[in-house]
Amino acid sequence: MKLDRLIAAYQAMGRQAAHQAIAAKRVHVNGLIVTDSHHPVDRFTQVGLDDTLIQQPERALYLMLHKPVGILSATKDAQHPTVIDLIDDPDKHTLHIAGRLDRSTSGMVLLTNDGRWSKQVMAAEHKVPKVYHVETADPIAADAVEAFARGFYFHTEDITTLPAKLVILTKHTARLTLHEGRYHQVKRMFHRIKNRVVSLHRESIGSITLPPDLLPGQWRPLGPPEIQTATLRA
Ligand code: URA
Repeated sequence: MKLDRLIAAYQAMGRQAAHQAIAAKRVHVNGLIVTDSHHPVDRFTQVGLDDTLIQQPERALYLMLHKPVGILSATKDAQHPTVIDLIDDPDKHTLHIAGRLDRSTSGMVLLTNDGRWSKQVMAAEHKVPKVYHVETADPIAADAVEAFARGFYFHTEDITTLPAKLVILTKHTARLTLHEGRYHQVKRMFHRIKNRVVSLHRESIGSITLPPDLLPGQWRPLGPPEIQTATLRA
């Protein structure tokens, strides 16, 4: 939202009076006078007019969690424990998940209450890379690398998967980088080469990597550089 709209709505002041107040340096945003009527504001911005606080900022939350196997990537569930149950924060009920994992998958999950941020992290056009460590039932054939790079046609969605980078680590393990996040995508891709995923772990999303000292079930807030660079291609 633009600053003038928020001011105009205050006590039904109207656009013209809002512009005048902003031009007269009566409006402050996060403690600083702002004279640009189009200055962007959202629910996390503090806005004041003279000595009156027009908008109290909400607390923006950005955090990473090391999801253990068996925990649901959901905010509520009647049967299974969810990622929210692992978080200890008074505002945890405001969180949503930026990119779910299957119950049987472990690894990095990002949670936030900032819808604009999570949209950017997940937006298909941003192609934010997600890196997975995969263990398979059968040996991974060398020609799988080319097949993953070429992409697989998924009939249900009528799409061909974007080129994915498969690096074979051992006979049964690989590191896979995807630039999209379709339903059960990794498992379905391995199914196509007649193999089966027996364990799946997400190591990173964009520039954010799960730190080795963040153990399964633990979480921590993201730092400002992580929040700003999350959507970058690592
Ligand atoms: N692909 C899968 O198959 N499962 C996940 O949890 C994530 C990606």
